[in-house]
Amino acid sequence: MVKICCIGAGYVGGPTMAVIALKCPSVEVVVVDISAPRIAAWNSDHLPIYEPGLDDVVKECRGRNLFFSTDVEKHVAEADIVFVSVNTPTKTRGLGAGKAADLTYWESAARMIADVSKSDKIVVEKSTVPVKTAEAIEKILTHNSKGINYQILSNPEFLAEGTAIKDLFNPDRVLIGGRETPEGQKAIQALADVYGQWVPKERILATNLWSAELSKLAANAFLAQRISSVNAMSALCEATGADVSQVSYAVGTDTRIGPKFLNASVGFGGSCFQKDILNLVYICECNGLPEVANYWKQVIQINDYQKSRFVNRVVSSMFNTVSGKKIAVLGFAFKKDTGDTRETPAIDVCKGLLGDNARLSIYDPQVNEDQIQRDLTMKKFDWDHPTHLQPMSPTSLKQVGVVWDAYEATKDAHGVCILTEWDEFKGLDFQKIYDHMQKPAFIFDGRNIVNAEKLREIGFIVYSIGKPLDKWLKDMPAFA
Ligand code: UDX
Ligand code: ADP
Repeated sequence: MVKICCIGAGYVGGPTMAVIALKCPSVEVVVVDISAPRIAAWNSDHLPIYEPGLDDVVKECRGRNLFFSTDVEKHVAEADIVFVSVNTPTKTRGLGAGKAADLTYWESAARMIADVSKSDKIVVEKSTVPVKTAEAIEKILTHNSKGINYQILSNPEFLAEGTAIKDLFNPDRVLIGGRETPEGQKAIQALADVYGQWVPKERILATNLWSAELSKLAANAFLAQRISSVNAMSALCEATGADVSQVSYAVGTDTRIGPKFLNASVGFGGSCFQKDILNLVYICECNGLPEVANYWKQVIQINDYQKSRFVNRVVSSMFNTVSGKKIAVLGFAFKKDTGDTRETPAIDVCKGLLGDNARLSIYDPQVNEDQIQRDLTMKKFDWDHPTHLQPMSPTSLKQVGVVWDAYEATKDAHGVCILTEWDEFKGLDFQKIYDHMQKPAFIFDGRNIVNAEKLREIGFIVYSIGKPLDKWLKDMPAFA
């Protein structure tokens, strides 16, 4: 029986391993983590991450050929294939601070593998890491090998949160990078055999190690670039009276461009896009390519611009001040169908509003108060360290209330900001919300999910990203 061990029971490791266990009943899969509470949650009825369909997959395999454990060393020692899916935060100090990946956790995982291994292993890089990390890991392993043979593979994950199980069941492609030696090719084949149990062969692509690593960064950079492109257009649409949804539909019908990832929004978030682009920028700079680095940097700058543009709209529409006003924030997760808040645009929007002294009442169906308070008080990039190493939640912000109901959040509010496109927000009773709000009542739709015309009929002043401006907003002084 092939034994797989995955180090890191996070958003990537957990769902990926659960699906491998489901699809490969003859493979034993153990997911290990240094965080005891996280492992306890994986072994309970309340999984540590919210992902549609995940509960069913875990229920079917857990205890059969899927196990979660804190006994990292034992399971690594026994495994034939070790996936490494640990945190790769952005460095906050020293060389490459603010851009380069901090490989502390990766390196310590590699050293541990070297320490405990007694048999040959295939080590699979599954976290997003900069190009050439596999080479570094290979060096650590081979210099401490004690005669054991290691093959390093890069197998980047392309799942998107909220649709992780669907993406894993039916991936566009599985990318496996490895050495171009006979041993390297054999290792690629061993991993391809695992995926081959449910993924059609033509979708399993073998590349060299570096191409696989770079492809992951490139794919995320291309996707983020589409969003920044449409968001840049949204600003121009507002200035000129065009409708960004019509523009992106028209653009997307060109089969060379395609319709996906062209929804204007308050900004992209998530654990990958910004981090991967920062890595890409750093790699370009290190390779003497400042023009290429600056090109990709713009994708992040437009994203930051979009978030601050949104805050400026809110403040300028409400007579240039939100001081002491209650603003309801609907949605805090970085997208719908996930409880994940890493790099969510809601953090910057909320901080911007708090900077102008607003009082916030936040509701998200999947994010709890503790998480929101942490996010609003944590330093940049601290979010990407293992939970037990993150700073404790400091005294919570008094101006921020977190409630469990959209009507409660909007009661007596002066304005409502929609920051995540949760389906339930589309079905809210906006007449009821309007009746209980201060007047004039404002709605700022950062995801273009409400019917602005209907809300205007009720009496709301509505701002929708990239749409022709409400008369009220047009008459307001221009904002910076
Ligand atoms: C992304 C990649 O899609 C995935 O392949 C990779 O493995 C990890 O990074 P993820 O971050 O989970 O996945 O979500 P994704 O669906 O890509 O959304 C990222 C952000 O872009 C979200 O904040 C989302 O709201 C935003 N977005 C997406 C838009 O603003 N407009 C769009 O048209 C699409
Ligand atoms: P991702 O989104 O990439 O899956 P997460 O932060 O959700 O990232 O998960 C990474 C996990 O890796 C965390 O649960 C963390 O506790 C775990 N981890 C980090 N370093 C180690 C290590 N050396 N051994 C085992 N687990 C680790």
